[in-house]
Amino acid sequence: MASRITQLVAILAVYAVASLFSTSAQAQLQVGYYRDSCNHAEDIVFQEVAATLAVRPYLAGSLLRLHFHDCFVRGCDGSILLNKTDDEMVDKTEREADTSAGLRGFDVIDAIKEKLEEACPGIVSCADILALVARDAVLLSHGPYWHVPTGRLDGRISKADATKDLPPPNSNITQLKAAFAEKNLTTKDLVVLSGAHTIGYSHCQSFLDRLTGEHKLNDAALELDPAYLDDLRSKCEANRGEMVEMSPKSSPRFDTSYYSDVLHRRGLFRSDAALLADDSTRAYVEQHATGSVDDNQEFFGDFGNAMVKMGNIQPVTTDGEVRTKCSVVNDYV
Ligand code: HEM
Repeated sequence: MASRITQLVAILAVYAVASLFSTSAQAQLQVGYYRDSCNHAEDIVFQEVAATLAVRPYLAGSLLRLHFHDCFVRGCDGSILLNKTDDEMVDKTEREADTSAGLRGFDVIDAIKEKLEEACPGIVSCADILALVARDAVLLSHGPYWHVPTGRLDGRISKADATKDLPPPNSNITQLKAAFAEKNLTTKDLVVLSGAHTIGYSHCQSFLDRLTGEHKLNDAALELDPAYLDDLRSKCEANRGEMVEMSPKSSPRFDTSYYSDVLHRRGLFRSDAALLADDSTRAYVEQHATGSVDDNQEFFGDFGNAMVKMGNIQPVTTDGEVRTKCSVVNDYV
């Protein structure tokens, strides 16, 4: 009996220490992490994002999306930015994966990193740059501001296989909920973060199944509005590499128009339409489809909170580095 109790105490102690470590790893991210080490880091990022979007406004969505693709694959460790460094490498990197085909804005991150290296060498990680850039791209698109906890280190591994954690655009609601739950994100986080599709563009290739009628969702109410479908077909017919606005009415503006689009069967991907197939996500879509000022404000608050949660997916806080160049690990600089 005594030995059983000792065993139990030992197990509990291990569990307590493990959970202490996991909380402390999370706790190391903090708002204002660079206040003493690189006081102007966040200003530099903001100025560079603003300068970029002044001449390439179409990149706002792309810059936001990079942080999502970083965090869902091996956690927010900057691994999405890594290029192949060695021709002998058998594995493809995340950046070479099929899911990364439409990603843009890598050059912007590299340029921001260069500015930060000039100002404070070796201090600001690429994973943190992605988190700050995402916030600033949203803010500059008339969206919300939120405080971004920082202090992530950059990882050294990037493998295309790991991108299977990203839900594909033909996902149904069960698959979406499962993919988000896997990252400790709730169903509410799913419907709120999907609202990111209020800005940006998609290649026709990403929603061809919607145009051809493949992978039907077994619910006519989730299929595309016929007029919108015709419009998309005519845009995509000539060139599958064409890009279309994700939220046609207010594509450059971060607002609740996405929810109105989804409700009116103009959600571009099956994963957007699928939000109507669950009671709680549908309720959120319906509530925010009105575009009222209050609902917009609530969405803004929800979005900032959900982005902080997403930014907290497995951050590297001990076994990592601050890369000198975002596209390669330091050994190769
Ligand atoms: C819920 C699951 C999601 C799926 C299935 C999905 C899928 C996609 C796909 C297929 C594209 C078009 C890519 C292309 O053809 O170039 C896209 C674009 C985009 N996604 Fe998502 N996404 C999801 C969630 C998110 C989240 C959580 C965010 C950010 C918080 C996000 C932000 C964006 C943005 C801003 C764009 C436009 C990119 C651009 O303009 O270059 N997405 N998404």
